[in-house]
Amino acid sequence: MNVKTREEEEEEGKAEVEIWEYTFGFVKQAVVKCAIELGIADAIENHGGPMTLSELSSTLSCSSSSLSRIMRFLVHHRVFREVPANHGGPTAFEHTPISRRLISHEPTSMAALILLESSPVMLAPWHSLSVRALINGAPFMAAHGKDVRDYAAVDEAHSKLINDAMACGARATVPAIIEGCPEVFDGVGSVVDVGGGNGTTLRLLVQALRSIRGINLDLPHVVSVAEDCDGVEHVGGDFFESVPKADAAFLMWVLHDWSDEECIQILKKCREAVPKDIGKVIIVEAVVEDKEGAPHDKLEFVKLMLDMVMMAHTTKGKERTLKEWDYVLKQAGFSRYNIKPIKAVQSVIEAFS
Ligand SMILES: C[S@@+](CC[C@H](N)C(=O)[O-])C[C@H]1O[C@@H](n2cnc3c(N)ncnc32)[C@H](O)[C@@H]1O
Repeated sequence: MNVKTREEEEEEGKAEVEIWEYTFGFVKQAVVKCAIELGIADAIENHGGPMTLSELSSTLSCSSSSLSRIMRFLVHHRVFREVPANHGGPTAFEHTPISRRLISHEPTSMAALILLESSPVMLAPWHSLSVRALINGAPFMAAHGKDVRDYAAVDEAHSKLINDAMACGARATVPAIIEGCPEVFDGVGSVVDVGGGNGTTLRLLVQALRSIRGINLDLPHVVSVAEDCDGVEHVGGDFFESVPKADAAFLMWVLHDWSDEECIQILKKCREAVPKDIGKVIIVEAVVEDKEGAPHDKLEFVKLMLDMVMMAHTTKGKERTLKEWDYVLKQAGFSRYNIKPIKAVQSVIEAFS
């Protein structure tokens, strides 16, 4: 008989529990999406303090028995906290650090990103993830017959969902860049944000670093609905064709959408846009750890999830290791670069001609 070691038994015990995460892994995302749609976090915030179940269900006009089950699930996962009753009254629900990230107008809100990733359009390609491995196909294409850019170009609602989600990512990342490595903007008078979405990144940069002028380059259907902002000029165009001139080109969460060859083309256009010798290209992207063993970065699991997201939602995109960034940067003609970790999933890569 095969006798199991203590370690093997422990592994077996963990597997028995953990396999349920894979069986019902979608449930956490679905319930949090439901909480955002019902407006639970906003209601507690607007109330100004803990809310009882009956206050919450009457404010949100929903069934208190369903809401109580939803709240039980969320409290179990530390999204909201149940606090003891006052003077023998009913218990009430209050915010936790996680639920604060579901409040729509908080700077740290992740609500728009959660709504994008849990939308039927973005979930459908996951059912075809295997086509990437089997025939090098694109799951988004298999699900919708076109890529995400063509889809968004003709679907205004989905385009807004994407732009709002990217803006929410920018609100989380830009302060981390300014706090973690403000020196990358030293001596930089103008920045072109290449694939800058609705301009949120530049708005935040210009507001924080008053001396900078920004040019926001994105596809025409994206910049046509971007809000005006002092110090930021919106330019509709195609970064494969040309990039407006500036002291520095900035690319955040853009290159991971593309293959190495496409990244090299985009980066060459960025190099042409900045002054020779003193110009720089600032890339804000994840750097996946390529060493074996336990990861050093507590957000490593997010980078690996994002890599799967790139597989599902882009045609050839991927998250890159240091070695893969080195290849792309050298092929694009950069002579040197440095990588600065920040308090975010991404790092800042500063590349010089
Ligand atoms: C993943 S989003 C990142 C947005 C923004 N940089 C951010 O981090 O919030 C990629 C952006 O690239 C833009 N884009 C895609 N293809 C483009 C092209 N050929 N020329 C200009 N922009 C493009 C998309 O419209 C989208 O706004």
